[in-house]
Amino acid sequence: MKYVIEGGNKVFGKVEIQSAKNSVLSLISASVLSSEEVFIENCPNIYDVECMLKIIKKLGARVKWADGGIYIDPTKINSTCICDKLSKKIRASLFLVGPLLGKFGAVTINQTGGCDIGSRPLDIHIDALEKLGASVEAYDDCLYFHADKLKGNFVRLKYPSVGATENAMMCATLSCGVSVIENCAKEPEVVDLQRFLNKMGAKIQGAGTSCIRIEGVKCLHGCSFKPIPDRIETGTFMLLVATLGGELEINGIKPENILFLAEKLRNNACKISLYNDIIYIRVNNNLKGLGEIVTAPYPGFPTDLQPLACACALSCDEETVIKETIFENRFKYAEELLKLNANLEISGNTLRARKSELVGSTVYAPDLRGGASLCIAGLYAEGVTVVENAEVVERGYENFDKKLKSIGAKIIKKK
Ligand code: EPZ
Repeated sequence: MKYVIEGGNKVFGKVEIQSAKNSVLSLISASVLSSEEVFIENCPNIYDVECMLKIIKKLGARVKWADGGIYIDPTKINSTCICDKLSKKIRASLFLVGPLLGKFGAVTINQTGGCDIGSRPLDIHIDALEKLGASVEAYDDCLYFHADKLKGNFVRLKYPSVGATENAMMCATLSCGVSVIENCAKEPEVVDLQRFLNKMGAKIQGAGTSCIRIEGVKCLHGCSFKPIPDRIETGTFMLLVATLGGELEINGIKPENILFLAEKLRNNACKISLYNDIIYIRVNNNLKGLGEIVTAPYPGFPTDLQPLACACALSCDEETVIKETIFENRFKYAEELLKLNANLEISGNTLRARKSELVGSTVYAPDLRGGASLCIAGLYAEGVTVVENAEVVERGYENFDKKLKSIGAKIIKKK
């Protein structure tokens, strides 16, 4: 599937932000721990969510889309083997290890997939789960985790991995005793997971800080839950209007999660107002530049917005320097930007982007956020840009082409 994009138009209008993909995926995993049905409101109907639901359905869970969200009944789960081609497709399948281990004492998983942005090892996950009483064996291309008895323990992550933090939290939720996880990821999605688990009766404190305390409980009951808005989608539309010019009203946001970006854009040509869950952005002329961007674990600049910032940097008058410190292979999209005549150079983990006279061409989306970056660049370029492999963009953005069209962007989806 591909997007055919005609550049040169400003954007005007309103967009509604979806629930955070990276929260919903971990909430679906956590629902496995419940002894009753749960309802997750306002879920984005995107590939990664669909894939995750298919995986838990294969384990025996009952899933139903209704009332704008997802009903999940985990009480009929009768398998803990997620060793199939589905789980190879998304990294979030790994986030099922903690809850399945916590609930059933065993889980088998094959090497997981997801965007090709780096090696994405599992050592931090394995180390944390072993500290909580699990043991792991490798055979074929699967990993078999089991635990006769999970016990509370002190776990120090060697790096604040989002997935490993969430897996450890979910595994410890039903274990006996108290667990303390240090050097945790502080992402808002981790805080959302704590809110969800506690709403089901868990006893977890500290998410959002580098130390999380989990007091194991016997069982969890059902609940209805509304996830946080997607801060990466919010940032995508902020950088879109900053690149193309125009005026956007972005609804359903969580301001505190995008303040860092609002400040960076305010110091440029952007007029920004924030009211409750709405951000208004008006951009009348070119941005000066985005200065230096260094990706880092939250509250640092999110690696997921790095490709989108690069696209915006190509419209700025001054040079932007981007350092990617989280994933070792997250500049593949930049190779594609060069096909659009981008004025950029890559040296190791550093990318320098300067004002470019972009010219439409055919490019290939290497991954989710890289694909979105190519779309922004195509909307800015002179002429027509074809973004191939656009399926990867729809893994994370619901109705991306429709939302862009609704604000005046010229984009057509083609098989
Ligand atoms: C989550 O991935 C997100 N995915 C990613 O979003 C996001 O980019 C990433 O966190 C960082 O914020 C989901 O939540 C589903 P990590 P995750 O473990 O948990 C290394 C998107 O576009 N590492 O925090 O897999 C790893 O290689 C996706 O929505 C180990 O070395 O990321 C990376 O260099 C892309 N060993 C760094 O840590 C491990 O055991 C951060 O990874 C685990 C991770």
